[in-house]
Amino acid sequence: MSKVYVFTRFGGPETEELQDRPVPEAGPGELLVEVRAGGVNPADWKIRQGLFGTRRELPSGMGLEVAGVVVGTGDGVSGFSVGDAVVAGVAGGRGGWAEHTLVRAAEAVAKPEEVSFVDAATLPVAGTTAFDLVHQVAPAPGQRMLVLGAGGGVGLMATQLAAVRRVHVIGVAGPGKRDLVEATGATFVPSGAGFAERVRELAPRGVDIVVDLVGGDVLRAAATLATEPGRVVSAADPAVTDLGGTGRVHHPDALARLTGYVRQGLLDPHVTATYPLDRAGEALAAVETGHATGKVVVQVP
Ligand SMILES: NC(=O)c1ccc[n+]([C@@H]2O[C@H](COP(=O)([O-])OP(=O)(O)OC[C@H]3O[C@@H](n4cnc5c(N)ncnc54)[C@H](OP(=O)(O)O)[C@@H]3O)[C@@H](O)[C@H]2O)c1
Repeated sequence: MSKVYVFTRFGGPETEELQDRPVPEAGPGELLVEVRAGGVNPADWKIRQGLFGTRRELPSGMGLEVAGVVVGTGDGVSGFSVGDAVVAGVAGGRGGWAEHTLVRAAEAVAKPEEVSFVDAATLPVAGTTAFDLVHQVAPAPGQRMLVLGAGGGVGLMATQLAAVRRVHVIGVAGPGKRDLVEATGATFVPSGAGFAERVRELAPRGVDIVVDLVGGDVLRAAATLATEPGRVVSAADPAVTDLGGTGRVHHPDALARLTGYVRQGLLDPHVTATYPLDRAGEALAAVETGHATGKVVVQVP
């Protein structure tokens, strides 16, 4: 048997529990992974809440991104063998906060030895989102990029990835995140009423790119700061297209590139809290506040 953290019906945290289930079998093209760490994302509670639809099979395993060790391979798998350390998003319908999970071999990437399982587990969802948003607008060195939610899981990685491209970042976050945001080389602007005016003082002619991880009124206020509406990108709010901007566009090499950046010390996912599997609910609650700092990770002993 294998432990897996699930939600049993759509709703709040009271629907979550740790269950014992048979170890899954790897199907064609799949890897059976012994999980060492699983990243926590806002999408985990949004799925549980039914915000992304209510058609999935219940109970439903939770956790979308993992790092672990391959303990089985399905038919047709090439490039991975038992014993390999890998990082990947979980296969559809599976849960990553678990002793075992399934991932699609075609979407998995070898985990470099120098990258910890905990750091690696933040890359398939949060890391690739940061990578995609920063790269789809292809900022040039010296340009100004405004990041909304710069102290969160995706935002902190987006500010660092921009710095790799020598883009100047103005990071908007809660006051407690000033040091963290400034440590990435970004200019910190406190969030809350009047943030757009504070950014305007720093960039009177506006910003070249807006990367949004907050959405709603914050996105709408920030969009007015962009020199071109088409250079506003958001992972948090599909309404960005109404403002002339775009949602996330997936880049096929994102995960492989990110593991390389972490290995080279160019990117630190900033894991600020880890919780053991039997306390996965506390890990999710920390993210569900909407004010997490960096990344929260579930560790599997
Ligand atoms: N489309 C996709 O594929 C995809 C993938 C990943 C994430 N997302 C979405 O992207 C968003 C961010 O994800 P995440 O993992 O970075 O979440 P997160 O770790 O919870 O970070 C969100 C950050 O936004 C900050 N924030 C909240 N209200 C704010 C405001 N008014 N102004 C400025 N900052 C504010 C929060 O803290 P402080 O207020 O304390 O600064 C927090 O640091 C979520 O909506 C998530 O669902 C989408």
